[in-house]
Amino acid sequence: MKLTLISGITLTALLSIYSCKHDFIGPTTPPMEGLCDLDSVYFQNQIMPILISNCTESGCHNQKDCKAGIALNSYSKMLSTVASVTSNDWKKNKLIKSLEDGRMPQNKPRFSTEQINVIKAWITQGASNNACDENFSGCDLSTEVTFSSFINPLIANYCKGCHSGSNPNGNISLENYQDIRSIALDGRLYNSLVKSSNWMPKGGARLDDCRLQKIQSWIDAGAPQN
Ligand code: HEC
Repeated sequence: MKLTLISGITLTALLSIYSCKHDFIGPTTPPMEGLCDLDSVYFQNQIMPILISNCTESGCHNQKDCKAGIALNSYSKMLSTVASVTSNDWKKNKLIKSLEDGRMPQNKPRFSTEQINVIKAWITQGASNNACDENFSGCDLSTEVTFSSFINPLIANYCKGCHSGSNPNGNISLENYQDIRSIALDGRLYNSLVKSSNWMPKGGARLDDCRLQKIQSWIDAGAPQN
């Protein structure tokens, strides 16, 4: 009896190590599947970036550290390490539960109700690895890129989780306008996004060309607080 229990636990532990370390799928460019439908939530566009930024920093739920047997650095890893993530019974869904009771993310601001609701809507819609092309009708570079409507929300979703607080990753804080402006003007912001390896967001897909061009044009304009 005791023996069966122990081997059961060992098996579970082995399985979780297996599912974390094996079958490495590196950061990939999201599959772009056409126009974004406003009534749908898209995993690659809306959810993956905030999971990467808030949950996968060193020591947490990335491929390598896989804290508590959980990796949230890709859709397949998330499904294989948090099976309950597809459940719309919110009390049983471990991802939703940890966000709602504030246990996660650790040492970071809690997810807003709005962010949690977006994740819930995605689960209710089938929790698929879906993506849409935000530039389906072309990349609009004719309108001025502003800090308030474009740069700040992008940094908040893709970067802030790792680059904020008292001990920001790489000693780079991206918490407010002044922080962002200084690394924009000295070239580090753009360079970090286009490096051939270890680009930012670390462990995530590379930002698409349209976003890169918009960031570049904001920097060229002097990184204004517009
Ligand atoms: C999962 C955590 C994580 C995310 C998300 C992340 N970073 Fe980083 N960043 C790091 C770490 C760790 C370093 C230190 C260097 C390294 O380990 O690669 C770093 C270093 C940097 C640096 C300095 C080194 C360099 O590459 O020039 C800049 C600038 C930077 N990040 C910008 C960003 C921006 C902009 C984003 C969002 C688009 C972002 N980071 C998202 C973890 C992250």
